[in-house]
Order: sequence, then structure tokens, then C-alpha cells
Amino acid sequence: MRAFHRPFLSRRTLLAASGAAVAASLLPPWRARAGALAEYRLVAQPGDAHLVGGSYPETAVWAYNGVVPGPEIRVRQGQRLRIAIENQLAEETTVHWHGLRVPNPMDGVPHLTQRPIRPGESFVYEFDLPDAGTYWYHPHQRSFEQVGRGLYGPLIVEERQPIEVDRDVNWVLDDWRLLPDAQISDDFGNFMDSSHNGRVGNTVTVNGRIPEAFRVRAGERLRLRLINAANARIFGLEFRGHAPMVVALDGQPVEPHEPEGGRIVLGPAMRADLVIDMSGRPGERFTIADTFYRGLEYRLLDLTYEDGAPLREHPLDAPMRLAANTMPEPDLATAERHEIAFSGGMMGGMMGGGGMGGMMRGGMMGGMMRRAQHSGIWAINGVAATGHVMEPFLTLRRGRSYVLAMHNHTAWHHPMHLHGHAFRVVARDRRTTGYQEWQDTVLIAPHEGVDIALVADNPGDWMFHCHILEHQAAGMMGVIRVA
Ligand code: C2O
Ligand code: CU
Repeated sequence: MRAFHRPFLSRRTLLAASGAAVAASLLPPWRARAGALAEYRLVAQPGDAHLVGGSYPETAVWAYNGVVPGPEIRVRQGQRLRIAIENQLAEETTVHWHGLRVPNPMDGVPHLTQRPIRPGESFVYEFDLPDAGTYWYHPHQRSFEQVGRGLYGPLIVEERQPIEVDRDVNWVLDDWRLLPDAQISDDFGNFMDSSHNGRVGNTVTVNGRIPEAFRVRAGERLRLRLINAANARIFGLEFRGHAPMVVALDGQPVEPHEPEGGRIVLGPAMRADLVIDMSGRPGERFTIADTFYRGLEYRLLDLTYEDGAPLREHPLDAPMRLAANTMPEPDLATAERHEIAFSGGMMGGMMGGGGMGGMMRGGMMGGMMRRAQHSGIWAINGVAATGHVMEPFLTLRRGRSYVLAMHNHTAWHHPMHLHGHAFRVVARDRRTTGYQEWQDTVLIAPHEGVDIALVADNPGDWMFHCHILEHQAAGMMGVIRVA
């Protein structure tokens, strides 16, 4: 048993240079903090987490500093971040800073950008934070198992001028496949999951617990940062009785708007920042339902209103729009266009049905299934990845604008993620999108086409992959070079 309560987390804010202290007093407050170094220490280690609660035993997990989710890293835009990782797992690991535009050697991709961190070894990541937003961190080594066992945490970069809210809250969503004794089913990477919609589990947690209720106060304004840390589950959240406004997607500001169809859809790795005015009355109760998979709708949790007097009678009258981040604007008129095609997987229904699935999930075929994860079930432009090191399927010239026209020729959803950059989602099935939203992970429906645009401004070899981690491991990954 490890000491989970030892305060591993050290958050010290230091001025980077001695001269800065003098100059700082002459600058506005945010400038004074720019350049300040924030330091954290994370230990990837086995632990136990009370996921289910009640009389259930704790679940054996792999976790940063022994807690699920890992410690919140909370820093300020313009700061520099240094994180020391210690690997106390029995296997190699790395950490990827999902959505942050870091220099290539800090990107945490095993073999491609660094040597994996061996058991007992440490590694120090350090980079600047040009952009504000809601991000997260997770391993990139055998992530279908390492993330699936609980290695992930939120990383929040506060704006220099945050919008006014009463509370700023993270909900890190995850989905686990638990056995009746609350232990994690070890059938990671099996053929059934890899060739269909990934490892969709049976237990959804919010911040590492099966949620019961979330207490709110009438009249308050909440900023809710949703992070989907699940291997494969797509969430479609409906806030009954409320009108959440989407103010950021994947950490990037977007024109505040009501979600399409009243539902916030988040594929694996995706984030949404919502502003919600608590418009109910004291003592009321409202359900947040996940309705993404038809026939499998469930109640995520209830918003329960405290009995006390409302915080205010009318919604807060304050702007919701976030200041823009620092990405260069792609020039669509001169952008070079490249087609990217996704193929593979089983067609819906071919291997569906409980009987076959139940049998294949059994331990009997475990060895075979473990090997199957690298058999090339999925492909990008006809090539199935077998590891992180591969010839780039695209080489982009640094500083140029590109449109990547993706087409999903499969029967499944894929949340496609590009490292090192954010991109604008400019069209879906050739129709211009309403918000031209910046994202780093875009959910593509079966047979859908999605065009994204970006300036290739960050040099290096960058992973481009499906964030359904079983699809990634089964070939749905490629390298885009910016040179
Ligand atoms: Cu969140 Cu390549 O990963
Ligand atoms: Cu996929």
C-alpha cells in the first residue's frame, strides 16, 4: 500500500529571473505573472480509488499521485509550466499535454518525441503557456490501458481576464468497465472493442466518483468545464430545465451559443466550457441525462438546489465571451488542400449481439486479443499504424495555411486529434460550420466529411489519431510533419 495522502503535489510560483521582480511592480498584474514558473510533481503509480462508493470495495487503479483524476494543474496564461514525472508503474510511460501547443520534444509521444520513461525513472517537461483554456494530461504509451486504468488529470490555464462567474468547476468524465467486485476488467485492447466502438464501459464517473447529485444555489452562475477522459464513450449531455451556453470548445473560445439540439456532445478527449445560470428555484431538482447512444440513455446526475434564498433574482448581467487565444488565422483563400480518408472496422451489426461479444470478452481468448490490437483494423489513407514512429503521411510547410479534408468511410464515430496545433472546423459535409470553432479533437460521424483549417506553425513530427484509444492502438494513427 502506498502513501496516497503524502502531499506529492508541490505548487510553487517562482519568478523566472531575479531582475523580473523589480520590473514587475511597474507592470499591470497579469504582466507581473507572465514568465512566472509553476512547478508540479506527478507520480504515475498504482493506487486505490473509491469509484463506486457504498459497500463496494475500492477499485485498484493506476493514477497520478494515487488519485483519480490526477491533481488539477491550474496555471495562468503566459506562465511557464514545469512538471516532473516519476514513473512508479511496472511499465514504460510518457505524458502528453492534450491540446497544449507545446514544442515537439515536450509532446510526450513515445519514441517519436522522447524515449519512454522507464519504471523507476523520471522526466521533466517544461513549456510556455501561450493560450488559456481547459486541457488535460494523460500517458501516450499504451494509452488504451494506462488511461483506461485511471491515468489522467485536468490542466486549466486561466485567462488573463477571466469572465465573471460565481463558481468555476471541472467535471472530468470517465467510463470504466468494472466487474461485479468493482475491479477493472482487464480485457484491454480486445478485438471486439478494437473493431467496433472501442472500450465503452459500464460505470460512468465524474471526478472519480459515481455522482449522486451536484448542489447548486438558485441564481448563481457556474462555469462548468467538461473533460471527456474516457477511452471510447461519447457523451451527449442534456441539462433539463437549464440553458447552458457553450463558451469554449477544447479550451478554445467560441462565440457563446446554445448547443445544437440542446445537447452537448463530447467525444473522447474533447472538452467544453459551459456557462450556466442556475435558473431553478430553491429546493428544486433537475436531471442531467446522457442521451448519446440511442436506447442506452441514463441519468448522469441531478442538479439539486439548496433551500436558502437565491443568490440573485435575475441572471448575472456580465459578458460570457472569452478573449481570443493566440493561434495564427488560416488563410482559406490560399490554403493548400489535402484529402484524408479513414477506413476499416467492422460494419455495424456484423459482429454485434451479446453472445459473441460475451464470449470474446472472456479471458479464454485474452492472448489472441492482445495481439489483435496491432493487426491493422483501421487505416488513415490506407495505412494502418503499428507504432508511434512512422513516415509522415503528410508534410506541411511551416507557416503555410492548410485545409485537411477528412472523410470517414467507416460505420463508426471517430474523434480525430492533431497534436501541436489547434484547427478551425470550417465545414461538415461541405457545408460551412456556424461557428468555425477552434478545436484540437473533432468528432466525425459515420460517413461524414469534415474540413479543418490551420496554419502549420509548430515544427516537428506530430501525431494525428483517433482518440478512441482502441482505434488508435489498432492502426488509426499517423504522423503529420511540419518542416
Ligand atoms: Cu490526447 Cu495523442 O492524445
Ligand atoms: Cu476511431
